[in-house]
Amino acid sequence: MKIVIGNDHSAVHMREVIAAYLRELGYEVEEIGTFSTESSHYPEWGEKVSMKVINKEADLGIAICGTGVGISIACNKVKGIRAVCCSEPYSAKLSRQHNNSNVLCFGARVVGEELAKMIVSEWLNAEFQGGRHQIRVDMIHDIEARQ
Ligand code: RB5
Repeated sequence: MKIVIGNDHSAVHMREVIAAYLRELGYEVEEIGTFSTESSHYPEWGEKVSMKVINKEADLGIAICGTGVGISIACNKVKGIRAVCCSEPYSAKLSRQHNNSNVLCFGARVVGEELAKMIVSEWLNAEFQGGRHQIRVDMIHDIEARQ
C-alpha cells in the first residue's frame, strides 16, 4: 500500500517522523513536501496530497499543518476526498470504519510525535465496514454532486 504525505512549513519535522514510521511499518511512502520551514500555504499541500489519492497515485493520504484544521478543509474541497482532522486515535479508527476516510490530517502543533504515530497506526489498521455506512458515505457525495 502506498501512502502520500504532505505538509506545510509548520509540520516539516512531523512529516519526516511519520514518513520514517510508515516505512518501518512496511508502507511505500511518497513525501511531497513542503521540505522548507519558510512560510507556505497549507491549501496547496492539501490539494497536492488529495490529487495524488484521487488520481490513484497513492492509496491513502496524510496531510499535516499546524492544527490539521486548515489542511483538512482544503483536502475536502477535492471531489471524492473524505479528509478527517484527528487529534486522537479513536476518531481516526472510526473515521475509516464508518466514514471511509481517505486522507488523515492532524496538527503538528497539537499532537506529539508518539500520539501522532498512534493516530496513524489506528487509522491504517482499520477497515471500512460498509453496509449502512456506505449509504451515509454515498449521501456525502450526493451533497458534493448537487453543488
Ligand atoms: C500556519 O501558521 C497555520 O495557520 C497552519 O499550519 C494551520 O494550522 C492552518 O490551519
